[in-house]
Amino acid sequence: MASTEDKPTNKENASSWKDSFYNPRTGEVLGRTASSWALILLFYLVFYCFLAGMFALTMWVLLLTLDDYVPRYRDRVPNPGLVIRPNTLDIVYNKSDPVVYGEYVKHLETFLQRYNDSQQENNKDCIPGEYYMQDDNEDMNKKACRFKRASLSLCSGLSDTTFGYHEGKPCVLLKMNRIIGLKPNGDPYINCTVKRDNPVQMHYFPSEGRIDKMYFPYYGRKAHENYVQPLVAVKLLLTKEDYNKELSVECRVEGSDLRNNDERDKFLGRVTFRIKVME
Ligand SMILES: *[C@@H]1O[C@H](CO)[C@@H](O)[C@H](O)[C@H]1NC(C)=O
Ligand SMILES: *[C@@H]1O[C@H](CO)[C@@H](O)[C@H](O)[C@H]1NC(C)=O
Ligand SMILES: *[C@@H]1O[C@H](CO)[C@@H](O)[C@H](O)[C@H]1NC(C)=O
Repeated sequence: MASTEDKPTNKENASSWKDSFYNPRTGEVLGRTASSWALILLFYLVFYCFLAGMFALTMWVLLLTLDDYVPRYRDRVPNPGLVIRPNTLDIVYNKSDPVVYGEYVKHLETFLQRYNDSQQENNKDCIPGEYYMQDDNEDMNKKACRFKRASLSLCSGLSDTTFGYHEGKPCVLLKMNRIIGLKPNGDPYINCTVKRDNPVQMHYFPSEGRIDKMYFPYYGRKAHENYVQPLVAVKLLLTKEDYNKELSVECRVEGSDLRNNDERDKFLGRVTFRIKVME
């Protein structure tokens, strides 16, 4: 660039190029005066503040219309999914290797903390077999029905602290997802089957895998703070022939109007998991 000073044509070009950036005669920067730039900046500042304000106002109005206690839009009550604990669809362990099954045991123990008697003592003793309806005009905070951890018996982790994992007869816990307002008709229970010819014996806790109606309906996270989902435990009474083989177990909610055979959603009212116990 320094050499261009000797050549008038180039100098002209250079200065007009520079002028287009900053013109010392008019004081324009990129073709605009400082006050013009200031106006533009001010315009955009006001414009964006306005947009931000509009956004905040809309959000605020929207949030005002939402009630913390009752979800606003509910056209129909959806069907719940079924999930298992430990939280995996592949349970694989060697029954003489406590390090591996210890992870499952720890997971179950942590999960069941909320079901401890100490946690449940403030919950209500509800009437079995009946929905526990709580009117809106009562206290906004709903009471929760007590679930006794001991009702899971051999799968409660109380008498057998390894949930049967050490003896190769492991427990799996099942629960339905929380659905606000759900009231299953009939008497829902869990039925698990192993997909193969000769059946595997199973024990259900509470007996017959029943899910009591008293745990319904659920009123929502905020209104029903102490709510715990009812659990069903299934203990797979595996024998020597079942070891070192991968078994596919399917559990369904049966005995009620809850859907368990949706073609598109294979977790609706049912769940399939694999289990392989080695020895
Ligand atoms: C729940 O009960 C288990 C077994 O009795 C105990 O080890 C654990 O500390 C208890 N947890 C809470 C939070 O009370
Ligand atoms: C459990 O499901 C299997 C397979 O669908 C069925 O044969 C059996 O009768 C069911 N048991 C109960 C108690 O419903
Ligand atoms: C399970 O563990 C035992 C003892 O460590 C071992 O002898 C056996 O081979 C293991 N089984 C498998 C299938 O790895």
